[in-house]
Amino acid sequence: MKRGVLIAFEGIDGTGKSTQLPLLAAYLRSLGHTVVETREPTEGEYGRRIRALYTDRGQVSLEEELELFIQDRKEHIQNCIEPALQAGQIVLTDRYYFSTAAYQGAAGLDAQAIFRRHAFAPEPDRVLLLTQTPAESVQRIQGRRGEELNDFEQLDQLEKVANLFASFSQDCIVRIPAAKSIEQVQMEIREAISPLLAEHGGAC
Ligand code: TYD
Repeated sequence: MKRGVLIAFEGIDGTGKSTQLPLLAAYLRSLGHTVVETREPTEGEYGRRIRALYTDRGQVSLEEELELFIQDRKEHIQNCIEPALQAGQIVLTDRYYFSTAAYQGAAGLDAQAIFRRHAFAPEPDRVLLLTQTPAESVQRIQGRRGEELNDFEQLDQLEKVANLFASFSQDCIVRIPAAKSIEQVQMEIREAISPLLAEHGGAC
């Protein structure tokens, strides 16, 4: 069985990852591929604990928070990502370890050390890094949800996160400007992954 394909959507909050990911999934299914749509933080035990931190950080240190993201990801890889790849499927994940390097890096940890902590994680075949300014993000988030930003989303924090995302130079990363129409961004996403589909061969 040919190994599947792992595609991660990354970017600061409000870039439209969770709109674009299902559109890409539908397109790939229309081509006959089997697609798994997934996200981090997950719905599992660690993911729930991470979500609780959005509203109340309590006494949790940065290191403890990092551990939660890493444990969540280990579980995600073991239970979902790796089995799907072994079954030859296409996995689309909304966030992956680049988010940890960017967000926990922005919070004060060493982003490169965070990458090194992820030696256990399969490297994605493509990272679709959706880019826009933090000001555009905040506008979209507030317009859409009509609510205050969570802890991870404060503007000055988002600036740091965006700067870290901008500094990453792994070959698998493709940057896609997100402040365009949904259709335009989706077309660019499809173009960015089409070489992968060609390599991957027929429907899987
Ligand atoms: P998000 O994709 O916005 O999920 P939800 O739709 O459930 O809110 O991610 C939640 C927040 O968690 C987001 O602000 C980024 C942050 N985050 C990290 O700080 N580190 C990580 O490793 C991940 C995966 C997310």
